[in-house]
Amino acid sequence: MRIVVGITGGIAAYKAVSLVRSLVEQGHEVKVIPTQNALRFVGSATLEAISKNTVDPDLYTDVADVKHVELGQSADLVIVAPATASFIARTASGIADDLLSNVVLATKAPILVAPAMHTEMWENAATMANIATLRARGIAVMEPADGRLTGSDSGKGRLPEPDEIVAAALALAAHGTDLAGLNILITAGGTQEPIDAVRFIGNRSSGKQGVAIAMAARARGANVQLIGANIEMPSSIDSVSVKTASELEAAVKVALTSADVVIMAAAVADYRVEAPSDLKLKKDHLGTTLDLHLVQNPDILADLVEGRGDSVTPYLVGFAAESDAERLDALALEKISRKGCDLLVANDISSSKVFGADTTAVTVVHAQDGVIARFEGQKSTVADELLTVIHDQLPERKNNS
Ligand code: CTP
Repeated sequence: MRIVVGITGGIAAYKAVSLVRSLVEQGHEVKVIPTQNALRFVGSATLEAISKNTVDPDLYTDVADVKHVELGQSADLVIVAPATASFIARTASGIADDLLSNVVLATKAPILVAPAMHTEMWENAATMANIATLRARGIAVMEPADGRLTGSDSGKGRLPEPDEIVAAALALAAHGTDLAGLNILITAGGTQEPIDAVRFIGNRSSGKQGVAIAMAARARGANVQLIGANIEMPSSIDSVSVKTASELEAAVKVALTSADVVIMAAAVADYRVEAPSDLKLKKDHLGTTLDLHLVQNPDILADLVEGRGDSVTPYLVGFAAESDAERLDALALEKISRKGCDLLVANDISSSKVFGADTTAVTVVHAQDGVIARFEGQKSTVADELLTVIHDQLPERKNNS
């Protein structure tokens, strides 16, 4: 793809170097357009070396080539990272006073804007209104991350990490904002049930697949809420951290009210210790054996199905990790009919290559139609393919299209 990367004048401009490097490494042709202020933070020599392309932010060189129109028309994708409050305001007003703002006006390619600024500037009513204007015009604006800002302060306003921007940009280029307006609730990770003050019963889910789905859905315009059990959360997604199945259940109930789709990718413990100890259990007191009395956790997905009753909303997607590869389809079909969800995504974990890996292979089972798809590859790619299946299955969207 031909990708224009615009860089505006903020301290996070240095992170754009990693972003450009990653895009070039993935085989894309990258044209970097820094603003004059961006060049105060990162030099054009660095940007030329990393992008393997010339860097000239001046609107008035090579005027005969009508550079701004040519760059805008030939781009397949435009990314602006970091985007300052000033750039966002000028874009919302249609001001074109340098090469980057001209290209942004001249292009018909998808545009991804990754803002970075202090929390107060992000929350300012003017910025909020400008962001709403950009989104209403079909420009994808990432949520800034929460964390350390330029000074000693921290809060919302950090540039999302370069790999998050790359994932969002590539999903946007492939699918546009086809999930705009959709509220998607995703659970990811694995719950941990306490035994005592230091020990727990857990599982090997890394949460990578659920997080990949959340990032891809956000990039395609969905409103995403991520509930993560014992995983590191992506900085740019609205998320809640939980530990146990009970906490996960409570968080799902809170988030459920606005969800059009629920994707239960989390590995939920089926049992918990009935009476976990607040203190660390000591061998001296326990002797040579330890009996743990376990009680069953609620089946969150089955309860969602029951709570939905005759309604078709929310659309419910379950996951299943199965270790009997020979019977994967049969087990998935049995599980979807037992759970009553709309789709089930089954993983074959017999090779033990799925947990924690960046790649996966899944079989997608539909409540009425049986096996409808099989996907294999990077979890980010599989995430995109799953979202396309879900999008195509949504009944009301089908009727509207
Ligand atoms: N799930 C849930 N609540 C539970 C257990 C599982 O919501 N207490 C959800 C998972 O998030 C997943 C789906 O149900 O989307 C299937 O999980 P899995 O553990 O494979 O199913 P189980 O019902 O536990 O079936 P089994 O133990 O027979 O494999």
